[in-house]
Amino acid sequence: MQFFSAFLFLTFLFPFVSSLKIGSSLQWIEHTPQPYAIANFYKGQSAASLVSGGVANLGSDTSFDLAANAETQGLKQYANHKNIRLIYVICEVPYRLVARKSARIATLADLKGKKIGTILGTSANVFVQRMLASAGVQEGQYTVVSGDVCMKTPCGDKTLPNMLKSGQIDAFGIWEPAVELGARALGEQNAILFQNISTYREVYSLYSTTEKLNDPQKRKDVVAFVRALNQTRDVYTRTPGENGVYEFVAKKVGMDVDIVKAVWGDHLWNGVWGDDLIDLLVSEDQYLAKADKRPGASRAELERFLDKSVIEEL
Ligand SMILES: *[C@@H]1O[C@H](CO)[C@@H](O)[C@H](O)[C@H]1NC(C)=O
Ligand SMILES: *[C@@H]1O[C@H](CO)[C@@H](O)[C@H](O)[C@H]1NC(C)=O
Repeated sequence: MQFFSAFLFLTFLFPFVSSLKIGSSLQWIEHTPQPYAIANFYKGQSAASLVSGGVANLGSDTSFDLAANAETQGLKQYANHKNIRLIYVICEVPYRLVARKSARIATLADLKGKKIGTILGTSANVFVQRMLASAGVQEGQYTVVSGDVCMKTPCGDKTLPNMLKSGQIDAFGIWEPAVELGARALGEQNAILFQNISTYREVYSLYSTTEKLNDPQKRKDVVAFVRALNQTRDVYTRTPGENGVYEFVAKKVGMDVDIVKAVWGDHLWNGVWGDDLIDLLVSEDQYLAKADKRPGASRAELERFLDKSVIEEL
């Protein structure tokens, strides 16, 4: 019998440096560069902790330093918290809409009068509205039905893929992998997919506040975290197969690896954003402002919302 002794090396945080606290929904593919960055690349002065949350936390709880969410939630929070800043684009996703061909759907215009599944008040809802409007079908000319997402088969009764298969809805639009699973549930013969990046893409972003960005100590850790995300971006885009990224993502969000691979190409790990983002934000904010019965933000205000200073410091 042999005995092995192990030494535990404990690292203590310097007590006066509070950890970098990041709020994010932990169940979507889009969020996974954050845990990957923390595990592999982050080298801040204090530890980074990723907790369940989102951009709403930045407005209400100053213990949060960063948050990640789609641009839709960012705009909703910016309406009442003008100190929020979008500092990095983790992922852009041209969402897809899947429809049942046997419901006589061949084009987006055929969705007029149909039942369309989505989740109200989210980027998916904005996506469905924009796609249909691009074909001349306005809200009120179709019925919106709420359903749940599904990350892995078997999908439950109240999930969108299941509702599509059973005929409770004729189509649905949302983030992945629910659309992929919905299309597979219908089968290749009966599924039709619509996607148009110039009509709508989710801009899944990292946010902070002016207070945090103006705090020199905190800012160092924010920059270190974005730098780690930038290194992650490299792995995600160039060598996902060699670095076990598909398996990492599948494990983090409870998906099957082959489904992660199937939808990988719909996820654009962009980091930077182009000059056209402001136009999407202006028009999306006008739509959200109407739905939320609030004044819209001006173009000048939305230009302030976009802050490239951290990216420029990398
Ligand atoms: C995508 O949308 C743009 C603008 O909304 C439109 O000009 C273009 O024809 C669409 N592309 C497809 C393939 O439908
Ligand atoms: C991140 O790194 C790449 C190089 O891999 C670079 O091209 C890119 O501009 C960097 N910055 C951001 C914000 O993505």
